[in-house]
Amino acid sequence: MPKAPVLVTRRIPSAALARLQEACDVDVHEQGDLGHHDLIARVRGKHGLLSVVTDTIDRAVLEAGGDLKIVSTIAVGYNNIDIAAARERGVIVTNTPDVLTEAAADLTWALILGMTRRIVEGDRLVRAGRWRGFALEFMLGTDLRNKQLGIVGFGRIGRAVAARAPAFGMRVAFASRSAQSSPLGESMPLDRLLATSDVVTLHCPLNAETKHLINQATLARMKRGAYLVNTSRGPVVDEAALVWALANRLIAGAALDVYEREPAIHEGLAALENVVLSPHLGSSTIETRTTMIQLAVDNVVAVLSGQPALTPI
Ligand code: GLV
Repeated sequence: MPKAPVLVTRRIPSAALARLQEACDVDVHEQGDLGHHDLIARVRGKHGLLSVVTDTIDRAVLEAGGDLKIVSTIAVGYNNIDIAAARERGVIVTNTPDVLTEAAADLTWALILGMTRRIVEGDRLVRAGRWRGFALEFMLGTDLRNKQLGIVGFGRIGRAVAARAPAFGMRVAFASRSAQSSPLGESMPLDRLLATSDVVTLHCPLNAETKHLINQATLARMKRGAYLVNTSRGPVVDEAALVWALANRLIAGAALDVYEREPAIHEGLAALENVVLSPHLGSSTIETRTTMIQLAVDNVVAVLSGQPALTPI
């Protein structure tokens, strides 16, 4: 029997590729982003698609890939995939939940600490030769102890972020559409969470309801002196509004791992000292990425050999 044809939109580690090649006839796009036009051309005739967050898998791609049985994304978020169009066509969509939860929560805390203790700003100063030595009032940050961490979206990653809060002496508040109560913290409406939290961290999926959830109005409701962290999806935050809020000192600082138009950032952000900017690193550890890719491959192999998907959406 001929092997099922599969398109892989990015280079993957050789062990994962070998596993996929055992079961499938694999077409790998080796260099950078495939681009929408080329994705449409290369997906024709394929039964499986192994993709990443930067691939836009819309109706046009799914129509071109009329033989697709599975779209397996190497990510937990799937806002880049038209799930309704996939369902209409009976295409199974899978993601990689759970395996990246701890890495994403760790990165969130790295940003919280880096931002409140001004580590990146300090690094810039030291490298530029502008450090004049120890001084009692020099580059003071903010304690986390006895402060409130406000978590917006209380799924796996939000809860893993909450679980680390006691280590830093923070109490947790969360705003969630689904979770009503949790031993990890106090549930509250978003407005109250924004008005009372010292650090607000975003862990909701991107959808029509959460696009620009953080905008001029919601930023204005935040506590003066509060910090914002976004490791979810860029468009959850209106970047222009954030630049306005930071420049006008409505909030004390921000740390972003994701952006509205990656890899571009709003030009105002880079000019601000009180912002930490990381390049979409939420799940980027060797161990986590290896496991995510393996899981995504296992989903393709399972579905194309007639087995149920491991982690269907
Ligand atoms: C990365 O952004 C993911 O959704 O896994």
